[in-house]
Amino acid sequence: MITLRATRATLAEGQAPLKVLWVREGRLLPQGEALDARLGGLLRRTLEEARFHGEAGESLFLAAAEGHLLLFGAGEDPRQAGGRLAQALGRLAFPEALVEPLEAEGKAYPLAEGLYMGAYRFERHKSQAREKALTLGLSGAQEEELERARKVAEGVYFARDLVNEPPNVLNPEALAETALSLEALGVEVEVLDEEAIRALGMGAFLAVAQGSENPPRFISLRYAPEGAKARLDLVGKGLTFDSGGYSLKPTESMAAMKGDMAGAAAVLGAFRSTALLGLPVELRGYIAACENLISGRAYRVGDVLKTLSGKTVEVMNTDAEGRLTLADALAYAERQGAERLLELSTLTGAAVVALGEEVAALFATEAAWGERVRQAAERAGEKVWPLPLEGAYREKLKSPVADLKNVGDRQGGAITAALFLAEFVGVPLVHLDIAGPAFAKKAHPLGPEGGTGFGVRTILETAQSLAAP
Ligand code: BES
Ligand code: MN
Ligand code: ZN
Repeated sequence: MITLRATRATLAEGQAPLKVLWVREGRLLPQGEALDARLGGLLRRTLEEARFHGEAGESLFLAAAEGHLLLFGAGEDPRQAGGRLAQALGRLAFPEALVEPLEAEGKAYPLAEGLYMGAYRFERHKSQAREKALTLGLSGAQEEELERARKVAEGVYFARDLVNEPPNVLNPEALAETALSLEALGVEVEVLDEEAIRALGMGAFLAVAQGSENPPRFISLRYAPEGAKARLDLVGKGLTFDSGGYSLKPTESMAAMKGDMAGAAAVLGAFRSTALLGLPVELRGYIAACENLISGRAYRVGDVLKTLSGKTVEVMNTDAEGRLTLADALAYAERQGAERLLELSTLTGAAVVALGEEVAALFATEAAWGERVRQAAERAGEKVWPLPLEGAYREKLKSPVADLKNVGDRQGGAITAALFLAEFVGVPLVHLDIAGPAFAKKAHPLGPEGGTGFGVRTILETAQSLAAP
């Protein structure tokens, strides 16, 4: 647990068991310089003798007469500097530290956000928690900036926890329960059970769900503050586990599939932060939660399904299940009056092949809406890159027996998946394929291995941009 406090104290005057000084290209920043002047140039001599240049995340620990000092390489990105510092401090034993400002007054937000991101741990299932409490005083920061960073981080933590939670714990019902917990923040939540889902006619979603003993849930959320200036409708893929079904995945690919609800997690995390921040935006969210398993009841390759939209789909691969659940969720969202849709899903391995594990693929049926989300992601520091909704590939989805089939061929798999989704909506749609960045295979500047909470901050920035045109 990390606590951030704004303080007027400078490094030279303040009292703390540990003081953190930034180093950029072998040089101290202003507060570090002032402290060094008092120490008679000890720090400068140390930097030179150690040839400490201060690459991002590099550190030098000094036990001076004055107290303990940590010289820390800032690098270029203040958010990442915060993330790296939080992780480094987690490895030291100090319960408290005073941190030098990295930027001018009133610009502590990215550093604070990074500190929160980097301090995240998932230890719920460890018999012995290793996490210690850490309180940081941020010199020159403003209380409001830290407050905002904390509320954003709460949404990201919420999403990361959901992704990290094992699939025997986080089944569709548990995901729905988690959504219901948001009611305490003023979010309206409606959960439909299997009968209600059937009555609506979500034949594609139900087909994916039917192989499991754990029943599906359809989750609708609404946050409608008084004076809302815009409306944003979100859809998130909510596969609490994806075995591939009869088109079974090999074990190594299945290992990350507890995270196949990362789109849903991002949506829920964004609701949490939006409500905490009180953003003047009406948010709607839709999640078709189920798991894709094998049994005597599971759907088959060759099955023809009737979607909520009325279109029929021939299943040519049971591992292309996300798009089936999303087809019904998207059609439902539009029925509820969505003017535009932002959908997030761990949809294809092909997106990871195209852009690697750090960059999400962005598809837009309307250029202006796509550009708005792209810019929001850029401000959020979440990496996305546009891919084309190439109409020429639409024919790959032709079926001899139904309106569509659920897979194309091996080429352009992320694109054909996006084209499939676009068949089920009329309003402008942005589809973010987050299969790469949703789950980190190793620790990174903004957090440990596991769920990243990718998408939460892009949704928040998008919502904010709609509220303040
Ligand atoms: N959930 C997977 C996509 C995925 C892959 C997410 C890797 C995260 C990491 C999805 O349901 C899937 O299995 N997609 C198939 C589609 C194929 C059968 C057309 C894939 O990408 O292999
Ligand atoms: Mn799959
Ligand atoms: Zn999947």
